[in-house]
Amino acid sequence: MKLAGKHIVLGLSGGIACYKAAELARGLVKAGASVQVVMTEAARHFITPVTMQALSGRPVFTDQWDSRISNNMAHIDLTREADAVLIAPCSADVMRKLVHGAADDLLSTLCLARPASLPLLVAPAMNVEMWENPATQRNAAQLRADGVTLLGPVAGEQACGETGLGRMMEPEALLDELDAFFHPKILQGRLLLITAGPTFEPIDPVRGITNLSSGKMGYAIARAARMAGADVTLVSGPTALPPPTGVRLLPVTTARQMHEAVMANVAGQQVFVAVAAVADWRVAEVSSRKIKKQDGATPSLAFEQNPDILAAVAALPSAPYCVGFAAESEDLLEHGAAKRRKKNIPLLVGNIGHQTFGRDDNELVLFDDTGHHLLPRASKEALADRLVAEIATRLAH
Ligand code: CTP
Repeated sequence: MKLAGKHIVLGLSGGIACYKAAELARGLVKAGASVQVVMTEAARHFITPVTMQALSGRPVFTDQWDSRISNNMAHIDLTREADAVLIAPCSADVMRKLVHGAADDLLSTLCLARPASLPLLVAPAMNVEMWENPATQRNAAQLRADGVTLLGPVAGEQACGETGLGRMMEPEALLDELDAFFHPKILQGRLLLITAGPTFEPIDPVRGITNLSSGKMGYAIARAARMAGADVTLVSGPTALPPPTGVRLLPVTTARQMHEAVMANVAGQQVFVAVAAVADWRVAEVSSRKIKKQDGATPSLAFEQNPDILAAVAALPSAPYCVGFAAESEDLLEHGAAKRRKKNIPLLVGNIGHQTFGRDDNELVLFDDTGHHLLPRASKEALADRLVAEIATRLAH
């Protein structure tokens, strides 16, 4: 997360999506950002300043002539410490005002008076016909040309009952976009393929063999790589995680499906990160019917070896830069170094301790041809950022 310590001016204009701005303000504060809310007159018909003040923990400004700012320069004061201005929701009318340089209320005036280097991001929210109207489309194009970042809108069912483009992005997605905005683009334009999560090997229609991988580390790396500007394809076994924003997700169940999906998508990839806890074996004969209990007799299962996906990718004639993971229960330093050599890959990441599954933090050791070094305990998000930086540095050399 790069939002920690950032100061965001959050502008709200009139639209039913104002209810989502409450969640957004909360998310920003939770991510460690400070939030200064500014509301237009129209926004106050949808949500009260009291709500936004309680969530942002700061007085909300709505009026250019607010007496709390002693020099009457609210439009200047409010942006001078800011790292970004985000207008969410941004109505068609506020888009028009931004295009024309209007200065007839606090929000439009502070946008006009903001320092040229202060980024302005807007999340449009309006009825589908309003969004598709040529006038709004002209304004959207002009805003982009002026260097404003448009986040959304997205398609879906609208509060007015119609369906189409015009919904404001969900607060979670907006937080991701804003976070991405602050990330250094160290993998800009790189193609990265990643596996994550467990695999599930069926025994019969209701049973199977799997492992405790939650997918958190792999998803965090996919997200961090995307934040760093990479084009990310994530092949994921079954997890309970929401798909990371802006990442192409290919869901699979078994190791063989994961192998197939990886091999079908590996051409042209520059980096392959194998985080998935792939089942080494599958049940040789999967029963098409549920296996019934039979007078105390226990079934015996025969196994077959699954393909080693990482080894298969590393053996390709024009293999991408391969990063493997290792979960060892003991002697990590010894096994890690040996596994990197055996799999013939430039970088292997070892989990310290095998009880990392499902946790939100982790501690890693990187093995490369110079030896090994430690990435100390941190959240999986922070470690993912570190790892992406390590990959970017190695690619650059
Ligand atoms: N891996 C893979 N395909 C498999 C097994 C593992 O792509 N069939 C990848 C994992 O995603 C991980 C790395 O190989 O990046 C190491 O996995 P691990 O289970 O630790 O190693 P194995 O090669 O299976 O060796 P062992 O289980 O004997 O330790």
